[in-house]
Amino acid sequence: MRDLSTEGGLAGSGAEPERGRRGGAVLDRQRDGIRRSVGPSMRVFICILMLAFPPVSRIGAESPQQEKSPDLSWAFFVPDKVQPNIDNEGAIRQVPGSTKTYTQAQIDDLSNPPDWFPDEHAPLPQVLQHGGGPSVLACASCHLTSGLGHPESANLAGLSAAYIMRQLADFKSGARIGEAMPAIAKGLSDEDARQASNWFANLKPKVWQTVVETDTVPKSYVNEHLMRLPLPGGGLERLGDRIIELPQDAARAESRDPHSGFVAHVPVGSIAKGAELVTTGGSGKTIVCSICHGPSLTGLGEVPAIAGHSPIYIFRQLYGFQTGARTSGMAQLMKAVVAHLDQEDMVAIAAYVSSRTP
Ligand code: HEC
Ligand code: HEC
Repeated sequence: MRDLSTEGGLAGSGAEPERGRRGGAVLDRQRDGIRRSVGPSMRVFICILMLAFPPVSRIGAESPQQEKSPDLSWAFFVPDKVQPNIDNEGAIRQVPGSTKTYTQAQIDDLSNPPDWFPDEHAPLPQVLQHGGGPSVLACASCHLTSGLGHPESANLAGLSAAYIMRQLADFKSGARIGEAMPAIAKGLSDEDARQASNWFANLKPKVWQTVVETDTVPKSYVNEHLMRLPLPGGGLERLGDRIIELPQDAARAESRDPHSGFVAHVPVGSIAKGAELVTTGGSGKTIVCSICHGPSLTGLGEVPAIAGHSPIYIFRQLYGFQTGARTSGMAQLMKAVVAHLDQEDMVAIAAYVSSRTP
């Protein structure tokens, strides 16, 4: 296996300060260019201006706020360019407690996902098990037969059917943008949407990840199926201002086992900081979440449950509301909530909300 850590194929590992320095150097060169291209009197004028308004990159270099990387690949799950050399397509998979056996290639057939525990859920509607039509992949492959999903997808277990229906309509109309769902929602029949929504709404919410504060995290990579997995023999890297969710058991996550959850690594101090923002609004920085999401954040009418959901999913949505990925009428209610939040706030809020009982 090649040494991935030196090839820049992996997210993280102290890359943030490095990138900050590089950005500063580019700005310095641009300023040097400006100085050279103007005459002496203009040079004096620029010097005076620069004394009055110090160059932004200088301020940035001194402020940890500005030093932060805008790299959000940890939240948006882009497959790493360099993949560890693991070929397990033909691997025979089994998971504890199930008598079934599938190959990895069968498991990754998104129109025919594994059903490890058929006795644990109501019969799967056709659209969950096999999809419906060319662009409609089987819901259970990404959201699992428990509805609990993975950090790269979403936890649908026990959301209200009305909320799920509305999201599918928003993905279809373009009021909500994203990676996998718009194409699926566009091809979905109304009847399949209704059946899938009712089926997911009847599932029980469950604890699906433990949230752990830490400074370092095992090095990891995102595979071609968008799953973040620990890098074999990879050692540790700095977590920084990110959330990294890793499977409790990589092989079971790759098997889409609905019994094997995740460990969410969040920055030290983030849960308490998030608690403050969520429960008090942080002196006007945001709005107390329980007003709309219910006293335990487990949902209120058509306002969805958020407690115990994947912190990366929660971060992605907060960021999405802020940057215009969700623009429906109902989504407008989230606009003021996120307007003044920065990445660190969103990471903290996600860490706290995720640590609450679903
Ligand atoms: C190929 C993977 C994949 C398949 C198959 C899939 N989804 Fe999704 N789904 C996703 C991803 C990824 C997201 C998260 C989007 C985001 O982060 O905004 C998502 C999000 C959702 C949401 C929004 C959840 C929320 O809390 O707002 C709903 C509802 C949903 N999916 C329903 C379905 C249904 C119904 C099906 C089957 C017809 C389905 N999905 C099939 C990947 C998939
Ligand atoms: C004024 C009401 C209101 C407040 C306050 C509010 N929310 Fe929301 N939130 C909503 C509504 C409504 C939706 C559903 C939007 C839609 O249908 O697209 C939502 C959706 C969300 C979602 C997306 C859930 C999903 O499954 O995709 C997250 C995450 C979220 N809110 C987090 C928060 C947090 C954290 C706070 C507090 C800091 C908060 N909200 C405060 C009304 C509110």
